[in-house]
Amino acid sequence: KKKVFSGVQPSGIPTIGNYVGAMKHFVKLQDEYDCTYCIVNQHAITVPQDPKELKARTRELAALYLALGIDPDKSNIFVQSHVPAHAQAAWIVQCNTYIGELERMTQYKDKAAKQESVSAGLLTYPPLMVADIILYNTDFVPVGDDQKQHLELTRNFVQRFNNKYAKEKDLLVMPEPMIPEEGSRIMSLQEPTAKMSKSDTNVKGFISLLDEPKVILKKIKSAKTDSSGVIEYDKENKPGISNLLTIFSAFTDKSIKELEAEFAGSGYGYFKEQLAEAVIAVLEPIQTRYKELLESDELDRVLADGAQRASEIANKTLHKMESAIGLA
Ligand code: TYM
Repeated sequence: KKKVFSGVQPSGIPTIGNYVGAMKHFVKLQDEYDCTYCIVNQHAITVPQDPKELKARTRELAALYLALGIDPDKSNIFVQSHVPAHAQAAWIVQCNTYIGELERMTQYKDKAAKQESVSAGLLTYPPLMVADIILYNTDFVPVGDDQKQHLELTRNFVQRFNNKYAKEKDLLVMPEPMIPEEGSRIMSLQEPTAKMSKSDTNVKGFISLLDEPKVILKKIKSAKTDSSGVIEYDKENKPGISNLLTIFSAFTDKSIKELEAEFAGSGYGYFKEQLAEAVIAVLEPIQTRYKELLESDELDRVLADGAQRASEIANKTLHKMESAIGLA
């Protein structure tokens, strides 16, 4: 079986953007691929985090993975900091990556602009992500559009490292991004030209997977639209409605064309109510399972077992890398 790896940061509760762009696909992929899904808490500390909150969010994200339908008998779920090989491999990656490459990363530039002081880790975050991916001999990485550049960096690294150090056959597996055709970039409900983000200070901009139904309805009702009153997909001129159509499509598996036909002549108010209903119909059962899981000790067992299985694979790759460069 081909291998899939992906991760989500416990820097907030995942949003419907994370769901549509990545997490929804995690579930679908597990029958066809050998999947590993990580809670990347070491990535989260590249910007300030409250320790208690970070710890709670890490466990909550694990519960959410399971509640979404990721099955620990099929996929491996673990917490990044439980597997030291990630930080170890990241150091080797950093020493074979150029500062110029890292300074070009748009996510770094965006995040750095928002911080009062920028940690070195914010700059060297992509090499840690490279390490995550290569340690598991990953073939495919399901992510949203904003991770595309980090995946390109990963591919460049793999090629460079293999060229330099692989004696005969390739040392590291070349990964490929898996970016959904639709919904790879869900926009903020308040500012539909900016990406929806779980760390947005304006909570009306995003819907978290744990928002209560009445909050979901309220946020969707107050989503920014335009004054034309026509429900059609036109990203340039109608970014708000186009974003809502994309979300609607992702939550119902109806195409945007079908939705345009269904809501031709309807008002924005009615359209938004129907959208809220569709989102709630998917999220409510997930939230119910989530609450049960958070209280069970099944979660701790899954994570302990996950870290052990992950370590075995990761340490093998790390050892190969260390041998190749003369560290072992
Ligand atoms: P993170 O935690 O920011 O986001 C998790 C996943 O959600 C996708 N995503 C979106 N998709 C659509 N619309 C949006 N508005 C939106 N916002 C986020 C992201 O693209 C991502 O797939 N660096 C990663 C985590 C990571 C990782 C990895 C991913 C660390 N190591 C190795 C893959 C492989 C991140 O910050 O994701």
